[in-house]
Amino acid sequence: MIQKLLKLEKQALFLEPNEKIRSGWNKEVLEYANQFLNTVNEIKAFNEYTEEEINAITFTVPDAPADIKKALSQLKTDIDLPGLNPASGGHLGYIPGGGVFATSLGDYLAAVFNKYAGIYYAGPGVVKLENFLIRWMCNIIGFPKTALGNLTSGGSIANLIAVATARDAKNITSKNVTKSVIYVTEQIHHSADKAIRIAGLGETIVRHIAMDKLFRMDYLNLKSAVENDKHSGLNPFLVIASAGTTDTGAIDPLDKIVDIAKENNMWMHTDAAYGGFFILVDSEKEKFKGIEKSDSVTIDPHKGLFLSYGIGAVLIKDVNALNQTHKYQANYMQDKTETQNEPSPADLSPELTKHFRGLRMWLPLQLYGLNPFKAALEEKILLTRYFYEEIQKIGFEVGPFPDLSVMIYRFIPKNKDVNQFNLQIIEDVKKDGKVFLSSTRINKNVWLRLALLSFRTHKKTIDYTLNLLKKIVRENK
Ligand SMILES: Cc1ncc(COP(=O)(O)O)c(C=O)c1O
Repeated sequence: MIQKLLKLEKQALFLEPNEKIRSGWNKEVLEYANQFLNTVNEIKAFNEYTEEEINAITFTVPDAPADIKKALSQLKTDIDLPGLNPASGGHLGYIPGGGVFATSLGDYLAAVFNKYAGIYYAGPGVVKLENFLIRWMCNIIGFPKTALGNLTSGGSIANLIAVATARDAKNITSKNVTKSVIYVTEQIHHSADKAIRIAGLGETIVRHIAMDKLFRMDYLNLKSAVENDKHSGLNPFLVIASAGTTDTGAIDPLDKIVDIAKENNMWMHTDAAYGGFFILVDSEKEKFKGIEKSDSVTIDPHKGLFLSYGIGAVLIKDVNALNQTHKYQANYMQDKTETQNEPSPADLSPELTKHFRGLRMWLPLQLYGLNPFKAALEEKILLTRYFYEEIQKIGFEVGPFPDLSVMIYRFIPKNKDVNQFNLQIIEDVKKDGKVFLSSTRINKNVWLRLALLSFRTHKKTIDYTLNLLKKIVRENK
C-alpha cells in the first residue's frame, strides 16, 4: 500500500504546479485576455455560425496534460467566437452589462484562495464583506440597516428566494394555496413566473393586472382586484412589481402599489434586476419612490453595475423571514459558531458551498470607485433618449418615452406585413453583426428593442445602429 500511495502522490502532484508553470499559464491567459480586450470594439457583436459549423465543434477530456496554447486556441475558435459577444459595446439586445475587467481579477483571486463563503465561522471576513455589499445595496434603495439578503448567481435565483420567503412569511401551505392570490402584470420577467412554480405556488391564482399605455401596472386596477378577491373569500398575499421591465424598461408606480400591498397585509416584491442601479443617478431617483417600502427587492450587479455574468442580489427587509425559509442545522456542522450581527449566507439562501461572489463585486468598486459607474448609467439613459429622438427622424414608430435605457420601436412599411418586416430587420442586423438587437411581441405586435446597458456602448455605437437601420429599411421597403 505504501508503494501505491507514493506512486499516487507523485501523479497527484501534477495538481500543484510550481511557480514557473503557474507563471507560464498566467502569461498565456493574460495575453489571450489582453488580445481580446484590445480588439473588443472590432470583434462582431454577433457571429452567426451555421448548425453544421456548430455540430463540427467537439470537446475532449485528455488523460495527460494538454498544452495551454492548444486549449486557448480552441477557446477562441469554438467557444468565444460563435454566437453573441456579450462583452461587445454593440450588444444592444436582451439585457447587456459588458463585464468590467476587474470582475475577472476578483474571480481569479476568489478561485485561488477558495475561501469558504457559506458560513461565518469558516470565513468571517468573507461573510462580513458579502454582508457589507448587501447592506450597501440596501442603503442605496433606502432599506433600513437591519435589512440583509443574499448575493445570488443572478436575478432568477434572487426572485426565487424572494418568492419562497414571501410564501412562508404569509403562511401559504397546501391548505390555502389554491385560494391564495399573486398579482403581477404581463410584463413581469418570466423568471418570476418560474419562481412561483418552483416555489410550489403553481396552484395559486395569478392575476395579471391591466397596464396603462406606458406598460406600467395600473394600480387602481390592482386595488379593485384585491378588494374583489377579498370579498370572494380569497387570500391575496403577494404582489410582484417591476422597477425596469425587460421588454420596455418601464417602472411600475411602486409607491402606489406598495401602499395597496401594505393596506392588505400582502408581501411586496420589486424586481429591479435590470433597473435597480439607475437609482444611483440623481436625476432618476424619484422614479423609484416607494421601492424602499417593498418587503424584498431583486437587483443585479451583473446588469446595472456592469460586472461579468454571475452575480445578482436579493435584498430582504425582514432577515428573520429570509432565515425561516432557508435555515437548516446539519449534524456534521454542529461545531460552527454563529453571530447575530453577521448571519451566514448559507442560512439565507438555498446554497451551502458557494462561490465567493463578493470579491468580484468589491474589487471593481475599489479599483474604479463609484463615479464611473454612475457616469456610465447616466450616459445610457441619455443615449436611449438620443436614439428615441433620432430613430423617429428616419421614419420609425416608437413606444413610450423610455423611463430608463430600454425602449421599443418598429417600422411600419406600406403594403407589407409589419411583423414580418421588423423580424427581417433583426435578421439583417444579425448578418451585419457589428451590433446586436432583439425583438419582442406585445399584444401580438412585433417591436424591436433597444437595451442599452453595456459600459462599452457610446454615441458612436448608437450612430452606427441608426445608420444601419436606415440602410436596411431603405433596402427592404
Ligand atoms: C427584470 C428582470 N428580472 C429578472 C431577470 C433574470 O435575471 P438573470 O438572467 O440574472 O437570472 C432579468 C433578466 O434579464 C430581468 O431583466
